[in-house]
Amino acid sequence: MSHLYEQLANELKQSIESGLYKAGDKLPGVRELSVARELSIITVLTAYRRLEDLGYIEARARSGHFVSERPLLRKLQLVQTSTESTKPCNLSNQDMILAMAKAVTDIDCVKLGSAVPAPSFYPLSIVQREIQKAAKHLERLGGYEKSVGSNELILQITRRMVSQGHDISADDVVITNGGQEALALALRAVTQPGDLVAVESPTFYGILQVLNMLGLRVIEIPTDPELGISLESLKMAAEDWDLKACVLIPNFNNPQGFLMSDQRKLEVIRLLSSKGITIIEDDTYGDLGYSHRRPSTLLSLSPSSDIIYCNTFSKTLSPDLRIGWVVSGKHKSKIEFLKFSCNIATSAIIQLAVANVLESGKYDRHLRKVRNQHELSVERMINRLSQILPQDCRITIPKGGFVVWVQLPENVDSMRLATVALKKGISIAPGPLFTPSRKYRNFIRLSCAIHWDARIEYALRMLSELIEAHDLNVA
Ligand SMILES: Cc1ncc(COP(=O)(O)O)c(C=O)c1O
Repeated sequence: MSHLYEQLANELKQSIESGLYKAGDKLPGVRELSVARELSIITVLTAYRRLEDLGYIEARARSGHFVSERPLLRKLQLVQTSTESTKPCNLSNQDMILAMAKAVTDIDCVKLGSAVPAPSFYPLSIVQREIQKAAKHLERLGGYEKSVGSNELILQITRRMVSQGHDISADDVVITNGGQEALALALRAVTQPGDLVAVESPTFYGILQVLNMLGLRVIEIPTDPELGISLESLKMAAEDWDLKACVLIPNFNNPQGFLMSDQRKLEVIRLLSSKGITIIEDDTYGDLGYSHRRPSTLLSLSPSSDIIYCNTFSKTLSPDLRIGWVVSGKHKSKIEFLKFSCNIATSAIIQLAVANVLESGKYDRHLRKVRNQHELSVERMINRLSQILPQDCRITIPKGGFVVWVQLPENVDSMRLATVALKKGISIAPGPLFTPSRKYRNFIRLSCAIHWDARIEYALRMLSELIEAHDLNVA
């Protein structure tokens, strides 16, 4: 149950969004509303403060509360038309990603660039306690864990996935060192160097790095910021090229935040399966939707299709645990072999700790809380950006996760923006990281899961000043 002030804030928000109150309109006075709704003054004030934080309203001294003057930035639309035919490209320049990652970890900066929530979005003390308990198992510390993973964690993951509607058994699961290793194992299992793999455009840059490392070629498929991958373009690519695999992030995509409908998911599965193309499904953000229903996965919709499912606890428990997993159907033994030959196994102690967090029910309790936190933080970021960015910017409205993808004015070079911003102590992720073909020059991805304080306000203002500054513009 939400608090009374949250209910009131939501109601007022809906009234603003539906146009009942327009920009510049005065909201009812605090005392008036408190009497009319039989709520305490504190409740009404807290609701108004929440709406102020989110950027919907502003308080004017001795005058009351007014709906903010600036409308929200417009929603981002598909940039590339889906009937444009796409061509394969070789991957290069992936070292710029490592350079950026290093620069960000090296300095104390406002981290809007990496998709890593601030510590307050993780249940860190619960994780810490479970690691301390697990570390008492000296017999586990003194040996290697099985390559596929510990029985305890595999059992917990299998139970979760079965309860989400997956038709799997414990034998299908391989534990990995995070989601990145899951993706790498999946791609290695089904490709040879030189093979062609389709990805969403834009896509998570970690996928491009793995493709680069494995000597694979890539074909980018235009992807709608609300609907997901373009079915027309995917069909054309599957007909024109010999694709070995297609990597998709259908649930709360990184960087665009969309959730594909079940109908589109089924169409994608049908299309790729009919051509014998392996689907690699990255469900990293699947647990972080804002609505209560967990979205279906491609794997749950079509258990007998050639789908390798990858996931990680890096966005929900802690990125430092390095715990992810793969469910890989007929590729399981290949993946198990690759896992063993790359790094033998994943730490037993950490697996045990994660298994205990899952079993205790604390993971689900945490998810219930953190999904709401993410929704609020994204909403707050969108509202704040709407107030300070030029009105020709466009933004995605995610349905889950915690990143937004922003289109800046045509003449802004986001690589230069990122370099200058970093010198001022602010990290952002520039658009070209999310493509192998130097697209998205005027796009950035921002993480919203931040501790909102004066530093963030400063960082956003500084970014908007830099965006308007001439020396960042493309010549
Ligand atoms: C879509 C997606 N997949 C995979 C990963 C990698 O996860 P991990 O940190 O567990 O390796 C990330 C991390 O940002 C991600 O956003």
